[in-house]
Amino acid sequence: MARRADADLIEALETARIHPLWDRYRRITPIRPDAPDDAGVWRWRDIEPFATRAAREVAVEDIERRALILAHPAFGGETVTTGNLIAAFTVLEPGDRAVPHRHTASAIRFATRAEGAVTIVNGRRCAMLEGDLVLTPPMCWHGHINEGDDRTVWFDAANIPLVNALHANFFEPGSRADNAFWEVDEGDERLWQEAGLEAEGHAHEAAHSPKFRYPGTATRRLLDAASPGADGAKTVRYVNPLTGGPVMPSLDCYARRLVAGKPTRPRRMLCSQVCLAVSGAGRSTVGEETFEWSRHDVFTVPQWSWARHEALGGDADLFVVTDRPARESLDLMRDELG
Ligand SMILES: [Fe+2]
Repeated sequence: MARRADADLIEALETARIHPLWDRYRRITPIRPDAPDDAGVWRWRDIEPFATRAAREVAVEDIERRALILAHPAFGGETVTTGNLIAAFTVLEPGDRAVPHRHTASAIRFATRAEGAVTIVNGRRCAMLEGDLVLTPPMCWHGHINEGDDRTVWFDAANIPLVNALHANFFEPGSRADNAFWEVDEGDERLWQEAGLEAEGHAHEAAHSPKFRYPGTATRRLLDAASPGADGAKTVRYVNPLTGGPVMPSLDCYARRLVAGKPTRPRRMLCSQVCLAVSGAGRSTVGEETFEWSRHDVFTVPQWSWARHEALGGDADLFVVTDRPARESLDLMRDELG
């Protein structure tokens, strides 16, 4: 093959630590987004035995968190579930305390089998009843304790891959000897429990929601009352009560009810989605793949992948966590119905 006319120049430029755009623009400005991953699917029946093993084989006193992170192989061994997000299940045995810490990454917990567990967030006690969402916003101190008689497991998600891509992670460990950390009640969480009411004189400067716990009972009531949206599913967004916007500047959470006999319209969004099956069962087509799921299975919808969902054998509820606000703040968000 003939040597290209600019080969000597490109070589000289590279030696001088300068790259010619004309030689590589297709690589650095692709025509359309191309997520490295396809839909990831993790079955609760496959995860549960590992939760049992981790609980038996790893002492919580020896580690930071007993969390099993769902890692998609498309990310080459990186601890990533889908673009910008990780999802996990955390396991606590009765009496276990997961040491307090805080970090710049944003995280959420969604209670699947967590009855008896409590998350303390910035000095507020947040119970973890069936279907409860608990936020652990950036730089808020948080620790977890199982006060019940049974093993607890909940679903976690965080934007650690995004924060690491921005080289913006700070992490501060807490103390295992800090007994006062655990001796708190609901505290100021009470200020945000009454929907549609705001107490005066409680300034909240942070960008995240002032409310940390979103009870599953309220979510289910609203799903019952809501009508299907344009894509055919009932969708409830968890919002910051002060702004009506997302619960955190770079994480957004939704409860979605797939109505029996009513498959959703295909939809693609320029954000990543992790979906937890909360109740019922269903079938999803994401990109080229079609798969079925049931309670407490987890699957992903990579960015800009067409996705459609249908409930099987009755209504089915999903909990969905996305990085949508991060995309919106960068003016990158697109959302299309097919
Ligand atoms: Fe954490």
